[in-house]
Amino acid sequence: MASHLISKYNVPGPRYTSYPTVPYWDNSQFSQREWISDTLKSFEQSNASEGISLYIHLPFCESLCTFCGCNKRITKNHNVETPYLESLQQEWELYLAMFPEKPIIKEIHLGGGTPTFFAPENLASMLRGIFRNATVAENPSFSFEGHPNNTTEEHLQALYDLGFRRVSFGVQDYSPTVQKAIHRIQPFENVKQVTDWARKIGYTSVSHDLVFGLPFQRLEDIFDTIEKTISLQPDRLAFYSYAHVPWIKGNGQRGFKDEDVPKDAQKREMYEKGKQLLLDKGYIEIGMDHFALKSDSLYSSYKNNVMHRNFMGYTSSKTQLMIGLGVSSIGDTWYSFAQNEKTIEDYYLALEQNKLPIVRGHILNEEDLIIRKHILDLMCHFRTSWENPDKYFPEITETVQSLKEMEKDGLVVLNQNNIQVTEAGKPYIRNICMAFDLRLKRNSPETRLFSMAI
Ligand SMILES: C[S@@+](CC[C@H](N)C(=O)[O-])C[C@H]1O[C@@H](n2cnc3c(N)ncnc32)[C@H](O)[C@@H]1O
Ligand code: SF4
Repeated sequence: MASHLISKYNVPGPRYTSYPTVPYWDNSQFSQREWISDTLKSFEQSNASEGISLYIHLPFCESLCTFCGCNKRITKNHNVETPYLESLQQEWELYLAMFPEKPIIKEIHLGGGTPTFFAPENLASMLRGIFRNATVAENPSFSFEGHPNNTTEEHLQALYDLGFRRVSFGVQDYSPTVQKAIHRIQPFENVKQVTDWARKIGYTSVSHDLVFGLPFQRLEDIFDTIEKTISLQPDRLAFYSYAHVPWIKGNGQRGFKDEDVPKDAQKREMYEKGKQLLLDKGYIEIGMDHFALKSDSLYSSYKNNVMHRNFMGYTSSKTQLMIGLGVSSIGDTWYSFAQNEKTIEDYYLALEQNKLPIVRGHILNEEDLIIRKHILDLMCHFRTSWENPDKYFPEITETVQSLKEMEKDGLVVLNQNNIQVTEAGKPYIRNICMAFDLRLKRNSPETRLFSMAI
């Protein structure tokens, strides 16, 4: 990868789990009344045909990993489990009371924090509570994030019995030096053990999260981590670029200095060489940061052009309505987004008053909906198309100029009515999406909001 391209395109950029991206939401136009009305509209349009998705955020972790950018609360006190799960149930009841018929649950993702912080029987009883007034769709797609240091066979079995068939384990890196720097000591044996249990119980998709660009990480560590990972043959792999965002309040990124983090060119090499190793071993790059074996269902969705992306990352199919439950969760009606309170105390407070615990949101206008579609197509299929450029890009000249520049650099092929990302352009997918991001263009951030694009 040419170094001039790296310096040219390595600018702060969104990861596009939504469009508009969260910092560009217009909260002044948002109200709970409108969120409820969009939720109902979306429910009526899609519940019977495709079902709904639930994202459930479980924020607790026993120990802080100092690279982590997720919303989490560190505690060893397990008395927090019951009140939190009761609040989740109460929040779900508020949605159930709105729906004109039983929801059909097609997708659930338990994210965190660490879902496996919770005792298996507590997770199971929370889920039984959710299912009590709902119907589980045929062939549901239920997944959870497990920490290899505390996932037990009982967790895997309890969730399997409730329909979970996919699990992702946080691996990050196997080097002892890196693990010490990120305060996460996690031997290979733990990862092997949980992967073996998941397979034995019948999980059809086991995924491992790897991260490049971590403090003190070297190219050899990437090779070693990938070799060890491949020996366990996970069905999917996330190969994330470390998002260094220490300015985000309370995220706990500390314990190492900026100089300890690999520089741009080193980081790029880690990605390039790591990716090549994965490709050589039969993994296919199916979207930003994600790889899968051909036998995995996400690969089939990618091949059949039905893969979707939302706040949960890539999913095998689209549901129009996604309800987010729990602290900091984001919901999506397709017409609007809403995010829950970010601290557990504020989340509890809203529910005590019997209110949806929403802190902010965004109602998409016509232009947002068009751009959202382009960004989704680019992120999921590495291409997008349009019929009438004037209609599709109100600020067409500027967008086309950026894309023409990218075409010269060999990142895209720009045709009359469509754009195709080239193999060389795939690592720059965030930059390519940024060419379409009119909200970002009109109002470039004055302070740092996003991690670097590469
Ligand atoms: C919620 S954690 C996974 C579950 C569990 N808490 C664990 O750590 O094993 C989600 C994943 O996000 C990724 N992640 C967290 N912080 C990140 C960061 N700053 N940059 C890139 N990836 C990050 C890690 O790969 C992590 O495994
Ligand atoms: S990486 Fe996982 S376990 Fe570590 S702090 Fe983040 S959410 Fe918690």
